[in-house]
Amino acid sequence: MAEEYPGYFARFYDLIYHQIRDGVDNGFYLGKIKYTKGKVLEVGTGTGRLLTEALQNGADIYGIDISPSMLNFLKAKLPPEHQNRISVQNIIDFKLDTKFDLIIAPFRVFMHLTEKEDQLKALNNVYDHLNNEGQFIFDVFVPALRPLIEGLENVIDFEGEYEPGNRVKRIVSTNPDLINQLINITFRFEWNEGSSIYSREWKTPMRFFFRFELEHLIERSKFKKFNITGDFNGNELKSDSKEFILTCTK
Ligand SMILES: C[S@@+](CC[C@H](N)C(=O)[O-])C[C@H]1O[C@@H](n2cnc3c(N)ncnc32)[C@H](O)[C@@H]1O
Repeated sequence: MAEEYPGYFARFYDLIYHQIRDGVDNGFYLGKIKYTKGKVLEVGTGTGRLLTEALQNGADIYGIDISPSMLNFLKAKLPPEHQNRISVQNIIDFKLDTKFDLIIAPFRVFMHLTEKEDQLKALNNVYDHLNNEGQFIFDVFVPALRPLIEGLENVIDFEGEYEPGNRVKRIVSTNPDLINQLINITFRFEWNEGSSIYSREWKTPMRFFFRFELEHLIERSKFKKFNITGDFNGNELKSDSKEFILTCTK
């Protein structure tokens, strides 16, 4: 089941994730984009945390995302001649009349696909949009079982000023659903606009994956060649790896 990100999540996305995510994955993905000669597609491009920088670096990059709220923030950053690079589409059935040398789905996009039929459709649809020898790169996290089972209860994971005098706080709670391999996440946003106080809550499931499930899944797809590394520096999987980074080749 596909879930759209609500407007307030999109509104504070850049503020939060430029701070807590940029140091982790942007060097890796921007490097992959830089070394691609042809067209690149970012699936789940969101507010363009990576796409805008890639475009500034001269990449021929396109983006799709299922959430209009996220893409509206991206559109506002793009000059008119680049607006046609992005469209509201779902990874499982997007259609673009061009093929790509690199398709990426950075930062947990694939974990939004909770059903295995959708995961397979997504892989096969991405495959169909790649040129021969093209690559699909995406990341999901390695489930850390103890924290996953214990869950989080009202943990403030971000607090800061979003404009002079106005602040936002994000509070996260999680509940595991082990049978369906889901982490049910509740994000609560609290912010002020002058003297007005706002509070909104969004619940969303994220599918977690194990290593051999990922291998079986990709082996069932049209992709036959793939490898999995354990961090954004290209190191092999080891017992304390935090990331599954998948590179699937057509
Ligand atoms: C955590 S954000 C990552 C955004 C961006 N890639 C980044 O690294 O900052 C995940 C994005 O995936 C999008 N998304 C979720 N499910 C999707 C689907 N089925 N098809 C396309 N995009 C999807 C969400 O709307 C959201 O913008």
